[in-house]
Amino acid sequence: MTAPVLQTTRRCPYAPPDEHTRLRDTASGISQVTLPSGQVAWALGRLEHIRAMLTDPRFSSDRQHPNFPRFTREQPAFGLMRPSMIQLDPPEHGPARKAVIGEFTVRRMAGLRPRVQQIVDEHIDAMLAGPRPADLVRALALPVPSLVICEQLGVPYRDHDFFQSHSSALLSRNVTADERQQAVKELRDYLKELIAEKAADPADDLLGRQLAQGNDPEDVLSLAFLLLIAGHETTANMISLGVVTLLERPDELVALREDPARTLPAIEELLRVYTIAEFANSRVAVEDVEMGGVTIRAGDPVLALSNAANHDPSAFDEADEIKLDRGARNHVAFGFGIHQCLGQNLARMELQIVFDTLFRRIPTLRLAAPADRLPYKNDAFIYGIHEVPVTWEDPA
Ligand code: HEM
Repeated sequence: MTAPVLQTTRRCPYAPPDEHTRLRDTASGISQVTLPSGQVAWALGRLEHIRAMLTDPRFSSDRQHPNFPRFTREQPAFGLMRPSMIQLDPPEHGPARKAVIGEFTVRRMAGLRPRVQQIVDEHIDAMLAGPRPADLVRALALPVPSLVICEQLGVPYRDHDFFQSHSSALLSRNVTADERQQAVKELRDYLKELIAEKAADPADDLLGRQLAQGNDPEDVLSLAFLLLIAGHETTANMISLGVVTLLERPDELVALREDPARTLPAIEELLRVYTIAEFANSRVAVEDVEMGGVTIRAGDPVLALSNAANHDPSAFDEADEIKLDRGARNHVAFGFGIHQCLGQNLARMELQIVFDTLFRRIPTLRLAAPADRLPYKNDAFIYGIHEVPVTWEDPA
């Protein structure tokens, strides 16, 4: 019997695709599926299995491995750059992460807060001064994280049209292999030139400091590429999805506005229910592993159905409900284990400042289109919304 082709379209934006729920709720929670690439992969639907995999060195993050789970028929463009930390296993992963972890500590993030607040305020000012309805994605959700990561890295934000279009091409499922390869090359060449400039004229920014520490410019290039891609579309999508969800729950929004201590737990719940990087925790087995009564063989691709796992009823009470005060942090929206998201403190801080500031400054903010008609991103590797029309009343 051939394994069924995996469906990935969400019927409800904050619920896993029905098929993923069904796969999770089978006796073992582990099934074989056929990916759009034609590969037959194990699909893990339960939280305990995904967490076990992510802490087990018998599973590799080597995205260049020919059997790493893929969503396209073509092999991705490799060999254009050295692998970055997200593709490395121990012992190479540790030093690559250690070289930059100091840039993302809670303390470092606290130091960035005033600037992030200023960026958010300026974008809200500009939105308020512009026409109504406004597209929240273009006015706020995309530029804020994009500007923040650019300033952190030392990438000129004036080039944002260039790298935003390239990074969204890389995250889209609707581009050909050639187009994707071209986007990687152009973005690589852009960053390579920038790093060469910084090597010649030292700069006090993340990339400049990496070079000053004596790190190889080729490794700094791979790091820059990873951070630029990982750093803006992800948080941008969570801002859009979060704003829509909160606007749809006016009573809870009032409670949130009156008590900012509620914002961080709400963010955690939004991360869990949406699980935008739903397949990012996937791996390839490099040794045989017994799990949930099945034998995963060395060389088998393993797909983490992280969204289904984050709605696993054995891990979360009323798992399909959005409970903004749930306070559960055992989800895998930021991954788990050695590759757990390096930028999570930054993402939480940006989301917190955006939500607190937006709803405080524009209490009459509302959607200008029904939430269920919005263009949700079923065509991208990272879930989100392409456009969110919003409007508001003039202040009394
Ligand atoms: C890793 C999700 C924001 C940088 C990851 C992983 C996930 C994830 C699931 C694990 C991948 C794996 O195990 O293979 C998210 C989500 C975000 C977000 C949902 C926003 C809401 C960011 C930001 C940055 C960032 C803002 C950087 C500025 C990274 C890096 C890794 C990573 C560098 C690789 C870490 C490693 O391999 O050690 N992210 N991310 N992410 N993320 Fe994020």
